Amino acid sequence: MVRIGILVSGRGSNMVSIIRACNEGRIDGEVVTVISDNLDAPALAKAHSLGVEAVYIDPSPGKVVLKGEGETRYIEHLLSRNVDLVCLAGFMRILKSGFLNQFKGRIMNIHPSLLPSFPGLKAQKQAVDYGVRFSGCTVHFVDESVDGGPVILQAVVPVFQNDTPESLAERILREEHRIYPEAIQLFAHGKLEIKGRKVFIKEDAWKG
Ligand code: GRF
Repeated sequence: MVRIGILVSGRGSNMVSIIRACNEGRIDGEVVTVISDNLDAPALAKAHSLGVEAVYIDPSPGKVVLKGEGETRYIEHLLSRNVDLVCLAGFMRILKSGFLNQFKGRIMNIHPSLLPSFPGLKAQKQAVDYGVRFSGCTVHFVDESVDGGPVILQAVVPVFQNDTPESLAERILREEHRIYPEAIQLFAHGKLEIKGRKVFIKEDAWKG
């Protein structure tokens, strides 16, 4: 059973999909803690109502980057819960080497585009503005880069001519809720191997 810690800043729909997948046996794991850097994040109440520990931890002094005392507080809390895997789910801060080294190869993120296209903020708007025919979402391991770590799973959705960033975001979000739990389950079963910038999924786990 993989012990999962989820970091959130806002709505928490991916967090809910992961908690549900654990409860329904689609992930052989348990969400043991949820941490928010935003006291007003709806995710906190949602986690609580699902019976999962949910805490606000002061992230300061950084505004964008998790560093200094804030970083230490996050690391210590996750270690105190014996977390095996850290899942970022709409967590709006950049992690630096102190955190990354502590959980090396054990931090995942979901991003609402087909990386390496459209990293950073407002990925769905970037896709609509660019005029691509397809976009999607990516689950990846987190490294020093912003949205640039090794790719675990991706899902593709069409982009229609009358799409708005909101309508595209809704279509992508349905796929996010599907592939994030799948990626975590692969991790839980020891099926993911990072070699350089690639992730290899051990053969017998790959369902095509
Ligand atoms: C998702 O679109 C995710 O891909 C991105 O931030 C958003 C978080 O949404 N990283 P939610 O809080 O999981 O509902």
